[in-house]
Amino acid sequence: MVKKREVIDKSGNKHSFSEGMAGVIATTSEICFINGAEGKLIYRGVPIEDLAEKSTFEETSYFLLYGELPTQKELHEFEKRLKKHRAIPATVLDVMKQMPDDANTMQTLRTVVSLMGLYEPKNDEHSVKETSGEVEKLIAVFPTIVAAIQRLREGKEPVAPDNSLSHAANLIYMVTGEKPDDYAARVLDVCLILHAEHGFNASTFTSRVVISTLTDVYSAVTAAIGSLRGPLHGGANEGVMHLLDEIGDLESVEKVIKNKLETKAKIMGFGHRVYKVLDPRAKILSQYSKRLAEITGKQKYYAMSKKIEEIMKREVGDRGIYPNVDFFSASVYHYLGFSLEIYTPIFAVSRISGWGAHIMEQLRENRLFRPTSVYLGDIDRKYMAISDR
Ligand SMILES: CC(C)(COP(=O)(O)OP(=O)(O)OC[C@H]1O[C@@H](n2cnc3c(N)ncnc32)[C@H](O)[C@@H]1OP(=O)(O)O)[C@@H](O)C(=O)NCCC(=O)NCCS
Repeated sequence: MVKKREVIDKSGNKHSFSEGMAGVIATTSEICFINGAEGKLIYRGVPIEDLAEKSTFEETSYFLLYGELPTQKELHEFEKRLKKHRAIPATVLDVMKQMPDDANTMQTLRTVVSLMGLYEPKNDEHSVKETSGEVEKLIAVFPTIVAAIQRLREGKEPVAPDNSLSHAANLIYMVTGEKPDDYAARVLDVCLILHAEHGFNASTFTSRVVISTLTDVYSAVTAAIGSLRGPLHGGANEGVMHLLDEIGDLESVEKVIKNKLETKAKIMGFGHRVYKVLDPRAKILSQYSKRLAEITGKQKYYAMSKKIEEIMKREVGDRGIYPNVDFFSASVYHYLGFSLEIYTPIFAVSRISGWGAHIMEQLRENRLFRPTSVYLGDIDRKYMAISDR
């Protein structure tokens, strides 16, 4: 149910609108379908469960960008192009070394992507070829930037990409300096598939609004990163980890969660503008969190997460507030050994494929986004000279 807000402006005209544009149709798209009532998510017609089980991030990215599942040859060529663009240009890496190592990682990622736009020779072209080329380069280089941000924060040298590794395995390698086992690499691969696309969420809409002015791809992606950073959007996965740490142990879960609900505080990783049942991505990630807890022998975060889920279902389930994608991704990233500071940047490593697909789609039949608002300010005020104020 979309909540409508009614207001009367100063001329006495009544307006009814949907706050936060919930349920408002902005344009058409062929990339993603979400059924929030039934908890269904499909990318270009294929259920997310199938992609999570059978695809890879590289294949899913190709599918999102170009609309067809690639042939073996197309996938091979695509992977080759991505590998070619994995390295951060030396000049950009030099500037990264001058950036404050205690800055917010999403702000650093945003700044680095913006900086990279300066080195893109044709960044005001909007042909399909130029645009897809820039999008592919960004998909390729995001893991390297995120890993370098983390390494520099730790006072370590960035690790160069290893082209014998997949996109996901290489990200773990560049962050930790060690090649991951197949299971860890596959878990991250699935995380990247699950986070890659989600319709007209705030950051994707941002990217489409920005590119609709026919500015460059780097500007659109820079703005999208800024949007994803917020705690109501991608930043929620960090919020979940803070919540788990604040609670501290399994025994304290009930008390802390009930207290938060009583004081109307939001529980990070719960609730969704579209899903009013369990987010299908949370269902998949919950299973991986469980398995990783068993493998690592560290049950704490998974057990606490399950307990929070149980309490929330009991207390607010009837209001349609269930775990979203961020809830179990927090414990999964923890088990994979990632630092909290790069949880949201890892979301961006994945979502760049969705942003890219939407940027390309928007440019195909572009119309400038320019909505309106109800003016509630004064309408007949006189200008008063500064000397009389
Ligand atoms: C995602 C989110 C912004 C969707 O918001 P929305 O559609 O605008 O819904 P609202 O924020 O208006 O919430 C509607 C009601 O549910 C409650 N609610 C929503 N999410 C909640 C949560 N995570 N914990 C507790 N209560 C929640 C609100 O307090 C509000 O209650 P009220 O009607 O009594 O005021 C919201 O659920 C949220 O802030 N979740 C936490 C952050 C998060 O996990 N974000 C990641 C999204 S993938």
